[in-house]
Amino acid sequence: MTSVGSYLPNNICSNDELSKFVETSDEWIYKRSGIKSRHFVSNQETTSDLASYAALKAIEKSTLEKKDIDLIILATTTPDNTFPSTATLVQKKIGIKGVAFDVQAVCAGFVFALSIAKSMMKDNNYKNCLVIGADTMSKLLDWKNRSSAVLFGDGAGAVILENKKNINNKLDNWGILSNVIHSDGDYYDILKTNGGVSTNQKIGSIDMIGKDVFKHAVEKLTLSFEEALDLANKNILEIDWLIPHQANQRILSAVADKLKIDPMKVISTVKYHGNTSAASIPLALDYAVSNNNIKNGNLLGFQAIGGGLSWGASVIRYGKP
Ligand code: ACO
Repeated sequence: MTSVGSYLPNNICSNDELSKFVETSDEWIYKRSGIKSRHFVSNQETTSDLASYAALKAIEKSTLEKKDIDLIILATTTPDNTFPSTATLVQKKIGIKGVAFDVQAVCAGFVFALSIAKSMMKDNNYKNCLVIGADTMSKLLDWKNRSSAVLFGDGAGAVILENKKNINNKLDNWGILSNVIHSDGDYYDILKTNGGVSTNQKIGSIDMIGKDVFKHAVEKLTLSFEEALDLANKNILEIDWLIPHQANQRILSAVADKLKIDPMKVISTVKYHGNTSAASIPLALDYAVSNNNIKNGNLLGFQAIGGGLSWGASVIRYGKP
C-alpha cells in the first residue's frame, strides 16, 4: 500500500448549524458520538466526483501514472446511478483503462474491497490497484430520524496497492499481511435503509437500532482484529497505528480498551468528519499520513463494521520497502 489520497466536500456543517433545522444540540451529539462537524456535498456533487478527486490525489502522490492502474475497486453504498457501477464512471472521469467495479458492504466496504483486491492481484496478477471508499451518506438521511441522521457525513479516500515481485522474500513483511471479513445476515434488520430498488423502488433512508449496533460493533471489531493479528503473526504491541472505521468515538474507545492498545495509537477523525461509511478508513489514513503521524514502514491495523452485518479487519505494513 504505497499511496493514499482523500477528498472532503467544501461545505462543513457543525452541530450548532444542524441544531437550526433538527431538534438536537451540540451537547447531545458530542456526548454520544464525539462528532463536532461533518462535510456535506452540494446538490451538484456526486459520489463519483468525490471518488475521482480522492483517486487522482492518491495517483499524484505515488510514483505511478494513470496508465499504470489496471484495477479499480470502489466501495460505496451511495452509487451515482442504480447501475452501472460508480467505479466505471470514476474510470471515465479520470481516464483509466482496466477493470472497474463496485463493492457493497456499507461501512465495512473498504476492508472488503482490500480483501478482494489482494486476491485478484495475487490470483490474476493485476499490477496496480486503486481501492476507493466513497460515500454521500447525506443522501440517505431522514432528518426526522434524528438519532441516526446526526451521525453521518460525506467524503472519499483512495489507496494504491502495487503488486511487486517478492525477490529473496524481501517483501514478506510488507503490504497487506492479513485480511479477515465476516457477514451475518441474522442482523440484517438492525442497520438498513427502509427502501430499495426491488422493494419499493425508492432509495430509502437509514434505519438503525443504535444500541444493538453499538453492542455488536464493540464485540465484532475486537474479535476480528484479534483474528487478523493472529493471521499476520503479530501482537497488539507491534501495531504502530490502529485506524478504525470512524462511526462513533465511544465505539473507538471501547474497542481500544478491549484490545489493550494505547489510545494514543488510535487514529480518530470522527470529530471532524462524522461517519463517512466506506470512506472513513482511507480518509483517516490520509489525515494521519499527511500530519506525519504515520510513517513509511509503520504497522497499521484497519477495522470496520457496517450493515449486513458485515465486518472485517486488516494488518498492513504501509509504504514502500
Ligand atoms: N438530539 C437530541 N436528542 C436525541 C437525538 C438527537 N439527535 N436523538 C435521539 N434523542 C433523544 C431520544 O429521543 C431519547 O429521548 P427520550 O429519552 O426522551 O426518549 C434520548 O435522546 C435517548 O435516545 P437513544 O436513541 O436511546 O440514544 P442512545 O443513547 O442510544 O444514543 C446513538 C443513540 C448515538 C445512535 C447510540 O445508540 C449509538 O452510538 N449507537 C451506535 C450506532 C452507530 O454508531 N452507528 C453508526 C452507523 S453504523 C456503523 O457505522 C457501524
